[in-house]
Amino acid sequence: MIISFLSQKGGVGRSTLARATAVEFARSGKKTHLADLDSSQQTSAKWSERRDNTGISPAVETGVYRRHDVALKAASNYECLVVDTRPFVDISALDIARQSSLVVIATGTSLDDLEPSLLLGHELIHKGIPHNRLLYVVGKAPSQAEGRAAIQTINAWQFACTGTFLTFRPGYSISLDAGYSITETSWKTLNHRARNIIHDICARAKASA
Ligand SMILES: Nc1ncnc2c1ncn2[C@@H]1O[C@H](COP(=O)(O)OP(=O)(O)OP(=O)(O)O)[C@@H](O)[C@H]1O
Ligand SMILES: [Mg+2]
Repeated sequence: MIISFLSQKGGVGRSTLARATAVEFARSGKKTHLADLDSSQQTSAKWSERRDNTGISPAVETGVYRRHDVALKAASNYECLVVDTRPFVDISALDIARQSSLVVIATGTSLDDLEPSLLLGHELIHKGIPHNRLLYVVGKAPSQAEGRAAIQTINAWQFACTGTFLTFRPGYSISLDAGYSITETSWKTLNHRARNIIHDICARAKASA
């Protein structure tokens, strides 16, 4: 099963969601691999290294790939391949989307973030990705009202979105810096919110695999 994380803009939480999804699949006993396609920044690979250095369980096997086709070939060796892509959608991202059981589109809440994200969804549908393989996640919502409004806008465009949004909280970035995922912070409420989102992602991916 391939789950890919795409976004038209950078810094919206794509890698954050990809890492947590990989952690939860690994925790459930699935042979999981996190493919970091951002070979210049390698942020997910570095996060995985921090995780290993601290000895956090489960370990998340991660690889950096310059070529998306090489990353996709790795899928046959794993039960779950989580693909963390670069912050723009090009031909390689479309190829990844075509081969994914689920394409997760991470977006912020402002119109500047939402509009390109929604247009990306339309482009993917136009390029033949089935509607039910797209799932939006609102990340880094500055307030409850803005998170809720963003979900309403996404639903109004007839796209599926996780019912829970990720609030902007330093507890998440502190945990990521220490090699933990957003489902493994020291704060129960933050973990609960993040787990709801990752649970939705895993359930949808399994349903369309
Ligand atoms: N909900 C949140 N609250 C606070 N900080 C967050 C949250 N989600 C992500 N971050 C932080 O925001 C930054 C960007 O997140 P992330 O790396 O997941 O985004 P990205 O879309 O993968 O970015 P890039 O385009 O650079 O690859 C990171 O430093 C991360 O720790
Ligand atoms: Mg990233």
